[in-house]
Amino acid sequence: MNLRKIIGKDIYWIGVNDRKTERFENYLPLPHGVTYNSYIIDDEKVCLIDTVESGSSIEFLNKVKYVIGDKKIDYLIVNHMEPDHSGAMEEIINLFPEVKIVGNKMTLRMIKAFYHDFDESKFLCVNEEFELDLGTHKLGFATIPMVHWPESMVTYDKTEKILFSNDAFGGFGTLNGGLFDDEVDFNDFRAEMRRYYANIIGKYGMQVNKAISKLSQLEIDYICPSHGLLWRNKIPGVIKLYSDWGNFIPEEKGVIVAYGSMYGNTEKMAEIVAKELFRCGIKNVRVYDVSKTDSSVIIGEVWKYQGLILGSCAHNGAVYPKMIPLISKLNNYGVKNRYLGIFGNMMWSGGGVKGLEKFAQETKGIEKVGESVEAKGAPTEEIITRLKALAKEMADKIL
Ligand code: FEO
Repeated sequence: MNLRKIIGKDIYWIGVNDRKTERFENYLPLPHGVTYNSYIIDDEKVCLIDTVESGSSIEFLNKVKYVIGDKKIDYLIVNHMEPDHSGAMEEIINLFPEVKIVGNKMTLRMIKAFYHDFDESKFLCVNEEFELDLGTHKLGFATIPMVHWPESMVTYDKTEKILFSNDAFGGFGTLNGGLFDDEVDFNDFRAEMRRYYANIIGKYGMQVNKAISKLSQLEIDYICPSHGLLWRNKIPGVIKLYSDWGNFIPEEKGVIVAYGSMYGNTEKMAEIVAKELFRCGIKNVRVYDVSKTDSSVIIGEVWKYQGLILGSCAHNGAVYPKMIPLISKLNNYGVKNRYLGIFGNMMWSGGGVKGLEKFAQETKGIEKVGESVEAKGAPTEEIITRLKALAKEMADKIL
């Protein structure tokens, strides 16, 4: 049974590694899987903190039973109603009819939206002054709106100084044996944690900052999120990482070149730009074909590097179709503090470069660098010179 006593004598990780689901929220690829972390405090009163996605509920319920035997669950704390954490709530209620569901006012509204016949008498509404006494463990609560939904909250175990942080400080990728940050090589998790942040919470940087400021008043020995690694050794480091991501502070100097090309000429332009960036001193140059690489991966990189150069051929008078999810999401996420360069290709009326320029104008947090470069077919010497100039201007900005 893959469960583990994690802290003290009575707190267990009873999460589930999901390596089967292809896409998180049915659209974000999961090449390294995802965990749904759930915790149980086996105190005088037995308390569950979040559940798992419904497809993983059998394994989860087996773990619950293994830990508590014939005892019953007294409380299920719902830190977040998104179904990757509340998917087994109904089964818990069916198995333990006396269980109290713990959440805030907005949690209740969401529960009733998901389950129209939910019996409100089962609900224990908490606020930030409320203390839930389990016997040895005393729990407090704090809301962290929009990290990741409006009802999102965290639970704080005052006895053991544990922050059950829900989506905050979580990441994609399964836990492959080790659970804590000091049991594994964080470099194996970092990119997937950033991709998770950028695509799930990235839009809410301001709310992330507010949450960090609110939680800074707590003494924290452990952070136990609902996805990915548990933190006990690198707590200041992970909080700084989150704060930097929330403030759009790049992690390293580097430039992403993402292009959409049907027959290779826009790709040739991307290669020229990448080579020139490197020649100008940019060591981290990342080139992506948007037809091949999922936009969520490129968006994760946008949270790492400050420079972004986009190239699109024209397609039916518009931006190349596979480029559209990337620019549409970057605009929606309100990306800030980034430099953007543009190039592309046309045959008759264009549309690729024009569409990227529209994206640049509409995305207030990015600064356009240099002149856009638009080729007609294979890049000429003049186009090559202009592409190199664009790369140099970007390198000058970054360095
Ligand atoms: Fe992991 Fe917003 O749910």
